[in-house]
Amino acid sequence: MDRLHSLDAVFEHVWDRVTDAASDPRHPFRTPTVGTASADGPALRTVVLRSAERAARRLAFHTDRQSQKVKDIRDRPRMAWHWWDPEAREQVRLRGRATVHTDDAVADAMWADQDPASLAVHVRTAASGTPLDAPRDALGDSVQSEPVTREDVAPGREHFAVVRTVVDRMDWLHLHPQGHYRARFECSPDEDVEGTWVVP
Ligand SMILES: Cc1cc2nc3c(=O)[nH]c(=O)nc-3n(C[C@H](O)[C@H](O)[C@H](O)COP(=O)(O)O)c2cc1C
Repeated sequence: MDRLHSLDAVFEHVWDRVTDAASDPRHPFRTPTVGTASADGPALRTVVLRSAERAARRLAFHTDRQSQKVKDIRDRPRMAWHWWDPEAREQVRLRGRATVHTDDAVADAMWADQDPASLAVHVRTAASGTPLDAPRDALGDSVQSEPVTREDVAPGREHFAVVRTVVDRMDWLHLHPQGHYRARFECSPDEDVEGTWVVP
């Protein structure tokens, strides 16, 4: 990846990448690690980036509304997103205020927008994290055979949640052969962005 020469270029570059990833299953930024603050310390897991809205600075994924991450966010409503692309040699870290959407317009819109195959995981006989006596996926009968239809996944709607983050911090690091360099941005609620180069 070419060296970027301005803070504006870095900021736009990051939003270009996450926006592209939200619509491209093969994009290197498709499966970020997201972090929450659990009662017993930081908690990380991989998710699929499902939506990125540059103007509103929002990112979202979908999940089981009974999962640990949803409990964490309800208790402490901030979260972090992390990407490392070994080919581009860049790390992106975004942070912001997180909200959980279960039965509102945000959840309805994502449920309607997603391919049924991506929603099948929500047709579960027990909540994410429930102990089992043997390793199995606990998926319901309606999604056990392909193709999975919208009708098949309908029982999953009651378990489904969207987690959305309004990004207010960005930290970007590029391990360029001519020297590592790093930029940091703060985005205020009135949409102003303040960026600075920082020591990597
Ligand atoms: C490639 C990959 C993609 C995943 N995508 C999601 C996702 O979009 N949403 C989700 O809730 N869990 C997803 N998971 C599972 C989570 O990493 C995690 O195991 C699960 O959500 C339970 O996390 P929690 O106990 O911290 O809530 C994915 C895992 C992998 C490996």
